[in-house]
Amino acid sequence: MIISPLQQERAKYSPKLPCTLKGAVKLSGGEKTRSVDDQEEIAKLFPHTYGMPIITFEKGDESVGGKPVHVGVILSGGQAPGGHNVISGIFDGIKRVHPESKLYGFLGGPSGLIEHKYIELTAEIIDEYRNTGGFDIIGSGRTKLDEEWQYDKGLEIAKKLNLNTLVIIGGDDSNTNACILAEYYLQKNEKLQVIGCPKTIDGDLKNEAIEASFGFDTATKVYSELIGNIQRDANSAKKYWHFIKLMGRSASHIGLECALKTQPNIALISEEVEAKQQTLEDIVDYLAKIIIKRAANGNNFGVALIPEGLIEFIPEMKALISELNDLLAEGTETGNAFKSLHKDQRLEWVGERLTQKSAKVFKSLPQGIATQLTLDRDPHGNVQVSLIETEKLLGQMVAEKLAKLKKAGEFTGKFSTQYHFFGYEGRCAAPSNFDADYCYSLGYTASVLAAEGKTGYMASVRNLTAPAKAWIAGGVPITMMMNMERRHGSMKPVIQKALVELDGAPFKYFASQRGEWAGGTHYVYPGPIQYFGPEEVCDQPTETLKLEKNS
Ligand code: FBP
Repeated sequence: MIISPLQQERAKYSPKLPCTLKGAVKLSGGEKTRSVDDQEEIAKLFPHTYGMPIITFEKGDESVGGKPVHVGVILSGGQAPGGHNVISGIFDGIKRVHPESKLYGFLGGPSGLIEHKYIELTAEIIDEYRNTGGFDIIGSGRTKLDEEWQYDKGLEIAKKLNLNTLVIIGGDDSNTNACILAEYYLQKNEKLQVIGCPKTIDGDLKNEAIEASFGFDTATKVYSELIGNIQRDANSAKKYWHFIKLMGRSASHIGLECALKTQPNIALISEEVEAKQQTLEDIVDYLAKIIIKRAANGNNFGVALIPEGLIEFIPEMKALISELNDLLAEGTETGNAFKSLHKDQRLEWVGERLTQKSAKVFKSLPQGIATQLTLDRDPHGNVQVSLIETEKLLGQMVAEKLAKLKKAGEFTGKFSTQYHFFGYEGRCAAPSNFDADYCYSLGYTASVLAAEGKTGYMASVRNLTAPAKAWIAGGVPITMMMNMERRHGSMKPVIQKALVELDGAPFKYFASQRGEWAGGTHYVYPGPIQYFGPEEVCDQPTETLKLEKNS
């Protein structure tokens, strides 16, 4: 296999660990914890794992020896830079506890556990993947673990492999599943422990104890490099408006972080759109106003960032999508009926079955977008927003509006668009130093929790704006992050998703600057991720984290 010169050099990188993880570790526990909301229901649903204390690691006694720890690891959901370092951190951590410890990787995500597809991860395999992007070491998948027969299949293979612990590396849904599994095995008096690790480029798995999900740093650095390049192109040619959709299923953390890094002319934030109850028309008006103002100054160019999840935050679209989710749900009578129709009949059929209000919105959409809204749902029953070309929808609507204004003599500028979607480009990038260190530390932390017999915990590494040596490692009970939410028609315990807070420091700073950025041209060009060089260039955490920590 040919390995790029960068990869060869990068393989030698030794991720930085918090001081407390460098030798033997001692655990210190705090007070009993409570879930973020719905305490009574969550406590009832998780009698064995509710209320456990937050665990912090301290320096321990080197003379205390450990027993071999056997761990099975699963990568769940979308790829995020640094997953391979979580796995190498687990590997090195359990080998440190005892050289006979073993690590198994379940193949292709949670389905590997149920179907008993796995490999043993040896030192040779691990070494090939250190500090690389991607999840290809064992693959990932989106199979949901939510039925007892699946938990039992997991137990069966865990017993065969003599596993102490399952580590599930995933987002909010996967970590919710990790907690349900932990509770189930305890209820059954089984010894199998389950530990979660916070992964997602979307950045929406965070709270007081989990300051960031891994991958967010690298992905936003990749997107910001590309946005900066486009800004420079826009400012050179001065003839295009670039509409850039940025990944992030639901929350706009990615869009906000990229805006803070690059200072574009426009960045829409879905959470604000929802809070202000803005309609599609309001958004188009907002975009058009800035375009007209820039054109009046001779600037017929600009850059607008559009979060992938926007469409679901526009109240009228949210209502429409929710009706569509029910109507087209897999295995239902209407879902099956829809699938049996010829493609040409589908839109009309859908339009006839929606409420009057949603039907009006549906019919007003360009045909391509309406079709995209009816495409297959993901395994959680959600519309796949990454397939909806929101940037084109907005661009087309703005163009129509400007054409009308031109006719009326109210717009004399030019409006030519280029469309981009940055998503998959960032998910498997070689992890930045921050993510390489953070992920390795998370993996190492998971190995300690495994060795110490903990279950129902998520690995946590905090104090992330400080140098890595001062990071604080430990475990957070997953029940602490839960509340009850409606899913598929019934109330379910789930980890609360962290959306952009409009009264939080990152958004407030952005809101204080965006007027300037809209009218002028204050682009920042971050350039590519640097892996070697001065700390100020290579080891910076996200702007979001810095602003959150300084507030
Ligand atoms: P996770 O929450 O599983 O990390 O995935 C996030 C994400 O990258 C979203 O930003 C995006 O909408 C989605 O995955 C795309 O999913 P897929 O990889 O299945 O196309």
